[in-house]
Amino acid sequence: MSTLNMPAANTSTDPLDLIDVDHVRFFVGNAKQAAFFYAMTFGFRIHQVADLTSGSRDRARYLLTQGNIRFILETPLTKDDPAAEEIKRFGDGVKDIAFTVADAETAWKQAMANGGESAYEPITISDEHGSVTTAGIQAYGRSVHSFVSRTGAYAIDRVKQGSMFEPGYRAIDGLALNDYNDANPCGLMFVDHCVGNVEEGRMNEWVQWYEDVLGFAMFKHFDDADISTEHSALMSKVMASGNNLIKMPINEPADGLKKSQIQEYLEWHDMMPGVQHLALRSNDALSSVAELRRRGVDFLRIPGEYYETVWNRVEKTLTEHGQEAIKEDYDRIKELGILVDADDEGYLLQLFTMPLQDRPTLFFEIICRRGSQSFGKGNFKALFEALELEQDRRGNL
Ligand SMILES: [Fe+2]
Repeated sequence: MSTLNMPAANTSTDPLDLIDVDHVRFFVGNAKQAAFFYAMTFGFRIHQVADLTSGSRDRARYLLTQGNIRFILETPLTKDDPAAEEIKRFGDGVKDIAFTVADAETAWKQAMANGGESAYEPITISDEHGSVTTAGIQAYGRSVHSFVSRTGAYAIDRVKQGSMFEPGYRAIDGLALNDYNDANPCGLMFVDHCVGNVEEGRMNEWVQWYEDVLGFAMFKHFDDADISTEHSALMSKVMASGNNLIKMPINEPADGLKKSQIQEYLEWHDMMPGVQHLALRSNDALSSVAELRRRGVDFLRIPGEYYETVWNRVEKTLTEHGQEAIKEDYDRIKELGILVDADDEGYLLQLFTMPLQDRPTLFFEIICRRGSQSFGKGNFKALFEALELEQDRRGNL
C-alpha cells in the first residue's frame, strides 16, 4: 500500500519536504457565485470567507472544503489588481497549487537556490491565535507554487479540523447548502494529481524544473504512441514529490492531423501554460459519480462502444498480474459512464468533467484507485475520441 497523501512525519531536515497540499487557489471573476457552483455541483462546504465584510478590501476569498481538499476562490475587487488582468486573459482558472511545509521562508529560499524564480516574497500574517507565512515560486506559465507554514490555531491539522484558514477570514454559518451537502456527501477526499499543459517542445524543460527546483522525480512516462488518435496527440510525463504526496503530470501538444486538446486549451488560455485538470480522489467512484450526476455535473460522454472491449482488456491485465478482479458492478459502471483501466498493481475507475467554465480550459477528474497508481493510459484512446467529438461541437477541431 502506498503512503499517498499521508502527511509526512515532520522530522526531515529537507526544507522542501511537502507536508500536504495546503490549498488550490483559483482566480475567478466572481468568487461569491463560483462558490455556489462548486458547492452545489461538487458538494463542497462554503466554509469561510474574507471579503469587504471581514475587512478584506483588495480581494474577496472563499474557502471551500471537502475531505482534505481546500480551494480558495479569489476575486480582485479593483481593476488595477494583477489578478484582474489574468482573469481578462485566461478566464477563471487555477493560479496556485500551494504546499504546506515546515517553514515557508526556508523552503522558498531553497527553491530559489535550486534555480527557481520568486513569484512573491515571504509574508507573514498573524494574530493572537497564530500565524501563516507564505512565499511563492513561479511554475509553468501563469501557475505558482506557494509554500505555506502555519502556527497555533492556523496549523494545518487544526485547519483540517475546521479551524480558521488564516487571519482575516470569518466562518460562514447557517447556510442551507452546507447542511444539504453534509446530508448528501459527494465523497471527494483529496487532490490525487494536478495536470499542467505547457507549450509544444517544453515538457522536458518543466520535468527538469520539478527535479531541480522541488526535488520531484519522474513517476510514469507515456509517449505519443500511447496517447493518440488519428487526429490529435499529446506527450505527458508525471512528476511526483519525494513522498508521493502529489503527482504533477505535465502535458505538451504533439503533432496530429487535427488540433489536440492541449492546443485547444492553450489557444483559449492566451497561449499561456496553466493547470488543465485537478483529479479528486474518491474511495467509492460509483456513489460519488452517481451523486455528482444527480447534482448536474456535466461529465465527458464516453462512446457506447467503449464498454464492448473494456472488460476483456482490464480482466486480462488483472489476471496476468495476479490482481483481484473488479468488485464494482459492471452494469452500474456502464450506466454511470465511468472509465476503467488496469495495470500490474490493480485497477482504477475514473471520469472527466466537461470544462468548468465557458472557455474549454480547466476541468476535474474523479478518480478511484484499487491498487493501480497509474493514470488511465488504456483509456486515452477512447477518451481522445470522446474529446474530439466535444471539440468538434465547440468548432475547435
Ligand atoms: Fe488525470
